[in-house]
Amino acid sequence: MCGIVGYVGAQQPSGRPLEVAMGGLARLEYRGYDSAGVAVVTLGGADLATAKKAGKLANLTALLEAEPLPEGTASIGHTRWATHGAPNDVNAHPHLSEDGRLAVIHNGIVENFVQLRAELEGAGVVLVSETDTEVVAHLVGAAYRATGDLTESLRTVAQRLEGTFTLLAVHADVPDTVVGARHDSPLVVGLGEGENFLGSDVAAFIAHTREAMELGQDQVVTLTPGSVSVIGFDGVVVEPRRFTVDWDAAAAEKGGFASFMDKEIHDQPQAVADTLLGRTDLEGRLVLDDLRVDEAVLRQVDKIIVVACGTAAYAGQVAKYAIEHWCRIPVEVELAHEFRYRDPVVDAKTLVVAVSQSGETMDTLMAVRHAREQGATVLAIVNTHGSTIPRESDAVLYTHAGPEVAVASTKAFLAQITASYLLGLYLAQLRGTKFPDEIAESFAALRAIPEKIQQVLDAAEQVRETARSMAEATSVLFLGRHVGFPVAMEGALKLKELAYIHAEGFAAGELKHGPIALIEEGQPVFVVVPSPRGRHSLHSKVISNIQEIRARGARTLVIAEEGDEAVLPFADEVFFVPQTPVLLAPLVSVVPLQIFACELATAKGLDVDQPRNLAKSVTVE
Ligand code: F6R
Repeated sequence: MCGIVGYVGAQQPSGRPLEVAMGGLARLEYRGYDSAGVAVVTLGGADLATAKKAGKLANLTALLEAEPLPEGTASIGHTRWATHGAPNDVNAHPHLSEDGRLAVIHNGIVENFVQLRAELEGAGVVLVSETDTEVVAHLVGAAYRATGDLTESLRTVAQRLEGTFTLLAVHADVPDTVVGARHDSPLVVGLGEGENFLGSDVAAFIAHTREAMELGQDQVVTLTPGSVSVIGFDGVVVEPRRFTVDWDAAAAEKGGFASFMDKEIHDQPQAVADTLLGRTDLEGRLVLDDLRVDEAVLRQVDKIIVVACGTAAYAGQVAKYAIEHWCRIPVEVELAHEFRYRDPVVDAKTLVVAVSQSGETMDTLMAVRHAREQGATVLAIVNTHGSTIPRESDAVLYTHAGPEVAVASTKAFLAQITASYLLGLYLAQLRGTKFPDEIAESFAALRAIPEKIQQVLDAAEQVRETARSMAEATSVLFLGRHVGFPVAMEGALKLKELAYIHAEGFAAGELKHGPIALIEEGQPVFVVVPSPRGRHSLHSKVISNIQEIRARGARTLVIAEEGDEAVLPFADEVFFVPQTPVLLAPLVSVVPLQIFACELATAKGLDVDQPRNLAKSVTVE
């Protein structure tokens, strides 16, 4: 939510600060796209130049072409997801201090801004925007006028702020410096040669360096071209942890696809394969090296609670079926924002699994903290290195989906499911609830999944054609059972967010308890049919559900396993996916639904990478 980039480095005024800021914003635009702005500091302390514009980054680019900014030595840039104040030019960041010599950008919400604003207005300060950020700019500007020390000014103001924030500031008096502060919002440092960077995530500077530094909560960082120094809000010097980003700029490019969404759907075989890579030893036993948690703790776990939001929560629901089956441990799946505000029964034997692509989702982060306060062990399944959730968890299992740029999640979802299968098999191995050969068999089946996803991708034209023919649809329903239920929910979510079509996912067994009333002539319904193989298959029950809705006029769009001829008489259309063991089936059966949503949205002329009102990383509660 809001993308932030900072740069310092040019020894002589040049176009590089602006170029780095705009390049970083292009990579961060998925975090918010209501408006964008930049500030450039010019050498010699003469000036601070800013430009900002409502709407997508393209509007700012056009403004800069018409009215170029001067060359400079440092820059900050911001892409906004509005919280306080409408997304217009005035509310766009940066915001300036009263004397216009200091610029601030902000991600998060300053909750006590009303009191702070009143205090400023009482002192005669005129505020031009409706934002909480402008309040901070005035406070830091005033502190700087009093102290002449930018780092100290930001630190003292940060201590007064309540809520969540990442703040970056530059001042015309110190053209070789950018300062940043973070409290419950993301910020990472990029380390260059004679230049340094700041970003909401590493995508901001990946085109320039893969060397990075994590910042902790409540820290202030000061960047010059040749130094990075970090102190806590208490003024004590901190030694941050360095890390190297394991993907490069090319991974965050569209690579010839029409959209990031399309590319990321096609990245899925790789995302699953990479998440499985290096997870077994020479004897074929699972090893989760990055987990960093004591095996004794995992042995005594008597309950698992998965906390997550949106698509990541659906990954958790898939995990529930697999982990309960393999490990015989009860698994609850709870939306993080609900878990946080009730009184969950959690103790030292509870393992809380926090699933998050960004590692920054505030609701999930709060649930992590809440769980740890109650004595639970928290294990994070996260895609983004250097993010907050793994940092604040006891253990981490990284997914290796690579950067996910499209706002709606696809490849990270598959990688999250894959990682939770790994966790389930690992716990089964540790606790002896499955024989080693059964675990090896499930792992081998997982290893075969990327090839199966590729087969679904290769056969995608059929689902694309159906999607294009449905551009006028106003409502689509999705049914599934067992692991097909979260797949149905995810299919509905993708369609809502990408194509703005009313969509609902239901457990097929629930149909007769209410939702069947929605079925009328021509109502399109996707049905995820379980495999007919296996002892306890629900296949025949779902076939009955299809018959029930078809008898009432539904247009049935069926996802079924190859060779499942039984669906043919009841399906208006069948999308076959390769045969897959029941518990692993979501990894293939969700793919046609992702393609469907992406293609239908494209057919409607919508921006599939940046759907309206959404932001990739939801860093406010
Ligand atoms: C939907 C989507 C969201 C995220 C949710 C959690 O396509 O992307 O529902 O899954 O906001 O985000 P992370 O995984 O970053 O915690």
